[in-house]
Amino acid sequence: MSTVISTLTDDGILHIEFNRPEKKNAITVDMYAQASEAFEQANTNPKVRVIIISGRGDSFTAGNDLMDFISHTSDGLNNGVVRFLNAVPNCTKPIIAAVQGHAVGIGTTLLLHCDMVYADTTAKFQLPFVKLALCPEFGSSFLLPRLIGQRHAAALLYTGAAINAETAFQYGLINQVTDDALATAREQAQIIAALPAAAIRLTKDLLTNTDKAQLMSIIEAEGKEFAECMKSPEAKEAMTAFMEKRQPDFSQFD
Ligand code: COA
Repeated sequence: MSTVISTLTDDGILHIEFNRPEKKNAITVDMYAQASEAFEQANTNPKVRVIIISGRGDSFTAGNDLMDFISHTSDGLNNGVVRFLNAVPNCTKPIIAAVQGHAVGIGTTLLLHCDMVYADTTAKFQLPFVKLALCPEFGSSFLLPRLIGQRHAAALLYTGAAINAETAFQYGLINQVTDDALATAREQAQIIAALPAAAIRLTKDLLTNTDKAQLMSIIEAEGKEFAECMKSPEAKEAMTAFMEKRQPDFSQFD
């Protein structure tokens, strides 16, 4: 079974699902490539009117697969990752996310590029970049303060603390807390899919294109810093500690 499943239904809803539930849908380089392909094809396929993104099992996604990631970043961010960081913001069809359980790292920064986000009461959102000796990615240093305010963005990014669905709703990170996030996402997708596609495309263009050039250059700049951070001994210690299921020891680093 594929680790990213794309299903297009007759009513024009493309469902892209992370399918690695035993690893909390941690995203490998291969999964980035598969998801990128699905987003890129959505742009050129007129049958796709709206996209739902979700994860199978008890989590949305635990973010970058740390084992896979560390082995692919010696020369900057892997091409599959870079492709994904371009494919999602440049997607011309509305994207609706359904979140349950963990949404860690890119599991939360991906949501900043989604048009609508629904979460159930199990959802937990976390940006643990500093805990991994890393920096914000995927345009989050730009998009997060704009979406939830400078204070909340700073607290989430400086502490790496997780917030629950209710707090995420209060911050404006998500549209609604619902009993069944995927069912709510589907209901909303059906409404959008039945409306005139050209008007929906134009609306998305108007909503997202004003700052697109700035956003894409920030994504690139963050990506360069992130790739440099990945090479640091602190980051290696953080990721090795995760693999070895122990707490990291940063005491030796200034
Ligand atoms: N990369 C690689 N493997 C991961 C992973 C990740 N980001 N997140 C989870 N996994 C794996 C675990 O190693 C474990 O594998 P195992 O069963 O072979 O030991 C499995 O998925 C289940 O995870 P586990 O940690 O046992 O589940 P949990 O419910 O106790 O905790 C999380 C869930 C998401 C809180 C925890 O796994 C975690 O903190 N993951 C890392 C998140 C992260 O830092 N992401 C990167 C951001 S840049």
